[in-house]
Amino acid sequence: MVKMTPDELRKSYIDFMKGIGASQVPSSSLLPENDPSTLFTGSGMQPMVPYLLGEKHPIGNEIANIQKCLRTVDIDEVGDTSHLTFFEMIGRWEFKANENNYKKKQIDAIWNWHIIELGIDPGRLYISAFIGSDDLNIQKDTEAIQIWSEKFKSVGIEPIIEDDPYKYGTSRGGKIFLYDEKENWWCRAGSPLDMPVGEPGGPDSEMFYDLEPGGDSLDHPASVSERFLEIGNNVFMCYKKEDTRFVKMQNPNIDYGGGLERIATALNGEKDIYNTAFFLNPKKKLMELSGKQYTDDLKSFRIILDHVRAATFLINDGAEPANSDAGYKQEGY
Ligand code: SER
Repeated sequence: MVKMTPDELRKSYIDFMKGIGASQVPSSSLLPENDPSTLFTGSGMQPMVPYLLGEKHPIGNEIANIQKCLRTVDIDEVGDTSHLTFFEMIGRWEFKANENNYKKKQIDAIWNWHIIELGIDPGRLYISAFIGSDDLNIQKDTEAIQIWSEKFKSVGIEPIIEDDPYKYGTSRGGKIFLYDEKENWWCRAGSPLDMPVGEPGGPDSEMFYDLEPGGDSLDHPASVSERFLEIGNNVFMCYKKEDTRFVKMQNPNIDYGGGLERIATALNGEKDIYNTAFFLNPKKKLMELSGKQYTDDLKSFRIILDHVRAATFLINDGAEPANSDAGYKQEGY
């Protein structure tokens, strides 16, 4: 694996995506513009919504970027080894894609960057995909499963498909884990049944890095343990809600998002995201100011490191404290 600084990692991602035809757009502000749905920009796709809904993007149909994100919904998880409120999300979008090859194009791109460019060990990569739903009348994502299977085979790994992860975990050698819409469906509303008419969504395929190879064999990518670190999500946005049905979109979209700090954790052989270079200087300063070692109080250190970082980026984007809705916007921003 190639150890990289955060800047090298950012550059590697953007250069790679540009090399296969994407145009780069800058990160949007953490304070969403013309979008009252959330207080802060929480994902790379948020500023892309108009284009995912069909508006033409001024610079083209293939876009890559690194978006500053702030997810307050994760705030209670901060303190463990992998959750952050503020993080950088790498993204790749393809609008109005060709339905015959858009999944292959995305999986090829993301496999080649992680495995070939960064040198991440494919033996430690695990995948999840959509198992299908009779109730929703949406089929299993056999296409994505097939493409990932070919990838694993190409590096001599048997792509065993586990369709009952909750019962068997990794004990049957699973590499590709199938889950229902609670795990492997992405839309803004969260669940397919809550999607309003006209809203696009679709099955997704998440990528996980095994932090403890040979660990508890009943763990699996969606289990609550620190063994599997989610490092990215490929959304195949190919359905639109119509009345109570889901209809296939003729020109689907790709919405990929990956966690830069988590990828750095995997790449640098760490288990703790706060041991990556993103946090080294603030951690040193905090130890100096508190007179304590990081290991003296991991949870408190992590919470302070995360929250100070989030507040710093918010202030930089023009936020100031307020106690109601988006009262945080400074005049002039
Ligand atoms: N929209 C997906 C997510 O936020 C992938 O970008 O996880």
